[in-house]
Amino acid sequence: MECIVINGGRRLEGEVSVSGAKNAAVAIIPAAIAANDICVIENLPYIEDVDGLTKAMSQIGAICTLRDDHTLEIDSRNINHCCATYDSVRKIRASYYLLGVLLGRFGRAEVPLPGGCNFGVRPIDQHIKGLTAMGAKVNIEHGIIKARADRLVGTNVYLDVVSVGATINIMLAAIYAEGVTVIENAAKEPHVVDTANFLNILGAKVKGAGTDVIRVTGVSALHGGTYTIIPDQIEAGTYMVAAAITGGDVTVHNIIPKHMESVISKLGEMNCRISTGADFVRVRGNDNLTSVNVKTMPYPGFPTDLQPQMTALLCKAKGTGILTETVWENRFQYINELKRLGANIKVDGRTAVVSGEAGLTGALVNATDLRAGAALVVAALAAKGETVIGNVRYIDRGYERIENKLGSLGADIQRVDRLV
Ligand code: UD1
Repeated sequence: MECIVINGGRRLEGEVSVSGAKNAAVAIIPAAIAANDICVIENLPYIEDVDGLTKAMSQIGAICTLRDDHTLEIDSRNINHCCATYDSVRKIRASYYLLGVLLGRFGRAEVPLPGGCNFGVRPIDQHIKGLTAMGAKVNIEHGIIKARADRLVGTNVYLDVVSVGATINIMLAAIYAEGVTVIENAAKEPHVVDTANFLNILGAKVKGAGTDVIRVTGVSALHGGTYTIIPDQIEAGTYMVAAAITGGDVTVHNIIPKHMESVISKLGEMNCRISTGADFVRVRGNDNLTSVNVKTMPYPGFPTDLQPQMTALLCKAKGTGILTETVWENRFQYINELKRLGANIKVDGRTAVVSGEAGLTGALVNATDLRAGAALVVAALAAKGETVIGNVRYIDRGYERIENKLGSLGADIQRVDRLV
């Protein structure tokens, strides 16, 4: 079993480049099935979720060719069935996108209930509500979501909760639907916009992505195309927080600064010095970080996927910070692991009260999910002595060789084979 071993206390310094966005990649890869043609996806992150999804795509007949320059070619001309196997999708949340896209193109899809990180209940009722409103029959039998439609017809779908997954899934199903599908109360995350942009270069008619009303006008065919995935907002935020917690001076390249506004604003409030350029942000930490309160919200609010890393940072700051998680019902499981490093945090429901200046010290810990793993890495960078982080496979789901990137900034970090 692989572990990440960090000897903390080193100030991070230098330049790091972020990879393509995980949550855009895992939507755009299945979206390529919509075209009966060849698509080329550039700036692909080499992460486990992408690997898993590519395998699931191959199993249904898409020919996926990974090049060594972060480019994936997907040939969807020979898709030969519409049923994804449990084994191919069980670890990936985004497998649900196969449902919308296969249903839209072939009128039929069978996809096992999605896996992914465990943040409590992760319902898909809004996906089903949208597909059903468009004329599909959707049943869940023995853990498999089965959807069928002789034809899909555009309609108005109001999402009861702002859901990234439901917004994208309905958008995918609507590509070939008759007439106009209107998604109201849609998610506005950068990866929703990126998926819409990708579909539009293939000939789809998606308007309004990035606002809370998206209109999809059905078309009769899509063609292939080449598309470059946006940079990963969460990976960028993780390195920004790592710079802050080590009192470092790090420039994070290949970002879209607009996507980072909520993080830039919180780090600024904490006394970090921040400067931005066209595609970079420079973060300078110091020994006088002050606590802040953070509430996670759908975009453009503070992203829930940076909440655990932010908790780690608040352990170092002066004063008490309150974190309120409004997106997921149970996203504080990692806090028991942070406590092994000396964190002083009290959790009450969806609120965590973090007492700062915790004096973190190295320990044996385990990642409990992807961003929980990132939080442990961030905390370990600031902890005295050696921290050994197990369950690295979670971290690999969303970070491309995190140890290489942090190592290039001066962190003492290694990946080793070791039992925790
Ligand atoms: C996506 C991201 C995940 C991120 C989350 C919120 C991907 C692959 N994953 O997950 O990293 O943490 O957005 O930004 O992009 N909900 C319902 N019914 C539904 C769907 C969702 O009630 O049918 C609720 C969820 O329980 C949650 C909230 O809506 O409370 C947001 O979920 P959603 O945006 O759908 O998350 P995912 O798309 O699964």
